[in-house]
Amino acid sequence: MTDIVLVAGAGGVGKTTISAGIGVCAARAGKKSLVLTVDPARRLATALGLESLDNMPHPNPELSLLWAAMLNASASWEAIAHRHAPPEVADRLVTNPFFEAVATRFPAGAAYAAGEEMAEEVESGHWDLVVVDTPPSHGGIEFLNAPGQMKSFVGGRILRILTGGRVPGRNTLFDRAAKPALRLMDTVLGGELLEDIGDFLFDLRHTYEGIARRSQSIIHHLEKASMVLVTTTDPAPLAEAARFVAESPGNTRTPIVTFNRSLPESWVVPQDNVKDPRLAENLQRWGAEAGYQRDVRDAWTDSHAGAIVNLAWRASTPNELPALESLARPVWAALESAR
Ligand SMILES: Nc1ncnc2c1ncn2[C@@H]1O[C@H](COP(=O)(O)OP(=O)(O)OP(=O)(O)O)[C@@H](O)[C@H]1O
Ligand SMILES: [Mg+2]
Repeated sequence: MTDIVLVAGAGGVGKTTISAGIGVCAARAGKKSLVLTVDPARRLATALGLESLDNMPHPNPELSLLWAAMLNASASWEAIAHRHAPPEVADRLVTNPFFEAVATRFPAGAAYAAGEEMAEEVESGHWDLVVVDTPPSHGGIEFLNAPGQMKSFVGGRILRILTGGRVPGRNTLFDRAAKPALRLMDTVLGGELLEDIGDFLFDLRHTYEGIARRSQSIIHHLEKASMVLVTTTDPAPLAEAARFVAESPGNTRTPIVTFNRSLPESWVVPQDNVKDPRLAENLQRWGAEAGYQRDVRDAWTDSHAGAIVNLAWRASTPNELPALESLARPVWAALESAR
């Protein structure tokens, strides 16, 4: 059986770094692990053994049980089209100008693509653990909600109204005489654009059944997944973390909330014996910040269920395997004890 760890959180809080670290810890514990990562910084990508931008899993040159792949919404949607539509329709879909836009601009589109990628890997049976670094939109909540949204979108009324009740429905769509709104759109947007949209929606219909079925299996995987919710004590990421908890579907697991880039609590204690006034002021300010961070964590614990983990702010960027491993070790320990 493949375990899944989902790493969510606001932009820039350390999701990609911690996902990589969890992968390193798991591989060191003898688990064949895949980290599905989003847009890692160059040096982190190198540490993970990701030199190219494709979304194929690559083994780590230093740690053979650790594999990594880049999540790439355009590439995933191409694969989705080929998986769920007949070959000639898939070829037409991926070259339609709207296809790229839906794949990459529509937040649920990117999140759904990541979910499909996760499901493919989990169902391949190749891995003991799949770690998913979630795409940066709304703190990762899109990732949890996208499969459900996708399912109601493809099964929903709007598309049926637009593309007609049953295949072939092309005439319904292009019957401008019967639809004054379409006549108006034709004039405003130009017939060619409207035809592109029409072709796109029509061809997309071939994928509905596959997407609806796959959405269901993604939802099922997400219910079993362990969640790591990364934040800092800054108000904006913290608000996104609170929103993630509040809006998570009821049947997902309580996240392990990880406060990253924390200052040591020992800094809160005033350092009275420092003679140099500039150094004393400096320590006082950092002490106040460490105290603020501790209060924020305490307030979180008072108002939320579940474990929290505290990760220290590192003086140098953690992007080598040993640094990634030691950073993520407490998260890995919390995941192991929650299992
Ligand atoms: N504990 C830490 N100490 C010091 N630097 C850190 C720590 N955690 C992460 N960083 C650094 O912070 C930066 C942002 O981290 P990362 O890219 O992992 O965040 P992210 O949440 O994935 O961002 P995005 O939302 O943009 O994808 C990176 O330069 C990373 O090396
Ligand atoms: Mg990232």
